[in-house]
Amino acid sequence: MALAFGPLSSHPSLPPMDDAEFARWVRLLEARTGVVVAPERKPFLVGAVRARMREAGFADYASYYAHVAAEGSGLVEWTTLVDRLTVHETRFFRHPPSLQLIGERWLPEQLRAGARALHAWSIGCASGEEAYSLAMVLDRKLALSGAEAQTYVGVTATDVSHAALAAARAAVYPASRLGEIPPEYRAGYVEMVGEDSFTVVERLRRRVGFAMLNLLDAGRAPLKQLDLIYCQNVLIYFARERRRELLAQLAGLLRPGGLLLLGAGEVTAFAHPLLTRVACPGTLAYLRNR
Ligand SMILES: C[S@@+](CC[C@H](N)C(=O)[O-])C[C@H]1O[C@@H](n2cnc3c(N)ncnc32)[C@H](O)[C@@H]1O
Repeated sequence: MALAFGPLSSHPSLPPMDDAEFARWVRLLEARTGVVVAPERKPFLVGAVRARMREAGFADYASYYAHVAAEGSGLVEWTTLVDRLTVHETRFFRHPPSLQLIGERWLPEQLRAGARALHAWSIGCASGEEAYSLAMVLDRKLALSGAEAQTYVGVTATDVSHAALAAARAAVYPASRLGEIPPEYRAGYVEMVGEDSFTVVERLRRRVGFAMLNLLDAGRAPLKQLDLIYCQNVLIYFARERRRELLAQLAGLLRPGGLLLLGAGEVTAFAHPLLTRVACPGTLAYLRNR
């Protein structure tokens, strides 16, 4: 059997991955997550697979593929590998125009309409920065409007990567990244942990719940009648047709009047009978029709 457990030195060099082998890893990743790896990103996929093979003690691609692809027993290994095969790049307040639309237009309208509870969903939340940014904006604008006592806001944040979710729950970030958070938010929502790190204050962390969810299973998730769906820098990794199918599903999970915020330019010429595009420069936003 080709499978070989043992120290790295027992199989120091893996052969190059040929195109047929690459193609079946691409198919597996797309079937399980929706993420498409283009041929030019072959070095990224190969590097990730090889690194994980070394760690897990596999000496050839075929036996590792068989192990990962096996229903049941392969799922533990898949859980680790999927983290390596997906891109987790993120930042606090990554897309200010979207957050401004939420804080300055959408939220005030909800409050004027007498909203009692607002439930937001951050899809593909990576290590949590997006979800905490959303929570900061919602919480601060709520406080400024004096509606804190009457309206509750909460954020559910999901990702397919367990490692990313663990980092999100831990909520400890290097101090060098404090500058991503505007000063007016830094003051009330983060605190230093030692000299080199900061965390999100407990009061805000309690507003954010993290859960493992594959976006491809969104239809089966217990998330319905959402007020706000924030899905940025996730669908760009998906095939065009898959993006449209998922967006149609997301439209169905919004309550009438709910807001869907995508990354600007992530889908082109998208329209859906349940949704109306929001005119707001620099954003790609839709309101669910009432
Ligand atoms: C580039 S990060 C974007 C993070 C954040 N949304 C932002 O814009 O800063 C993409 C995230 O999507 C997640 N992801 C990829 N495919 C997914 C899927 N099928 N279901 C859920 N999350 C997925 C990845 O694990 C990764 O954390």
